[in-house]
Amino acid sequence: MLSESVRKIHSDFESDLIGVSNLKDLEDVRTKYLSRNGLITSLFDELKNLPKEEKPLAGKLLNELRDFASNQFKSLKDKLELSSSVDNQKIDLTLPASFKKLGSRHLLTQTLDEIKTIFKGLGFSVFDGPELESDYNNFEALNFAPDHPARDMQDTFFISKDYLLRTHTSPVQIRVMSSNKPPVRAIMPGRVYRNEAVSSRSYCMFHQVEGLYVDTDVTFAELKGTLVSFAQQFYGGDLNYRFRPSFFPFTEPSAEMDITCYLCHGKGCKVCKQTGWLEILGCGMIDPNVFKSVDYDSEKLTGYAFGMGIERTAMLKYGITDIRVFFENDFRFLKQF
Ligand code: PHE
Repeated sequence: MLSESVRKIHSDFESDLIGVSNLKDLEDVRTKYLSRNGLITSLFDELKNLPKEEKPLAGKLLNELRDFASNQFKSLKDKLELSSSVDNQKIDLTLPASFKKLGSRHLLTQTLDEIKTIFKGLGFSVFDGPELESDYNNFEALNFAPDHPARDMQDTFFISKDYLLRTHTSPVQIRVMSSNKPPVRAIMPGRVYRNEAVSSRSYCMFHQVEGLYVDTDVTFAELKGTLVSFAQQFYGGDLNYRFRPSFFPFTEPSAEMDITCYLCHGKGCKVCKQTGWLEILGCGMIDPNVFKSVDYDSEKLTGYAFGMGIERTAMLKYGITDIRVFFENDFRFLKQF
């Protein structure tokens, strides 16, 4: 009995729905079947008059009918709403166009790409190394004495006794020389880590580019020629430069390269600490002890290496005074480049 009514209401509901073409007609159908006094809802009232054993099956049929009807109702409602909103849309051709915001490469990536392009033009290839390094590659093979202060926990993030986050890209020199026969001419960019207090001038993570050239008869004059050519292409042709003696365990002799301060043009200002000069990189001729640790013949070979910080390089070129802006993802900073 009840199942017959269910079947009839089911098919009436379906044919009523076919005739619906707007939201108002749809609402009428809903009232007829699904409202408080609607046909389907009233059927539920009849349930309580049924004999006990028929109730479960009848209840199931009714629930199915109600679910079916409300699903059909909902999907038709969505469809009608969508089409009516499209119909109502008016296009105002006099409105100003909205511009899509374009993303761009991070300033550090741009700077690194520029450095890579210049060195590729000078015959260098590009190598990579891991940020998690062995103490051996980061220090020992680079001729750091066991008690060298750079190994101190103050500067280095040690992961274990023998592993650490590399403090410079120089360990990649060891990797490149250990797995390639000379001559090698390569640059090696990447992230490095130092356990330093964060300030406008230093950060616990930054980027470096390492350079390496090993062959027979490589001279300090070639090192200077290459770096001057780089600096002129990167910072501009009319710059002044100088090489100052310095010390690194893995190079002998060692030097640091300065260029004229871009801000005061050598007169002396806050950025260059009144010296008129800005340091841009460290460099030197490869120490024979380093050749020994990679099984290169230090009697036959000579070579040079250099290393520069990419943040520092970008800061000098673009007049940025706080290193932290590179890592804060502040759109106001990023979109300027
Ligand atoms: N590794 C040195 C540093 O981090 C830079 C350097 C590289 C100096 C290669 C000389 C040769 O300061």
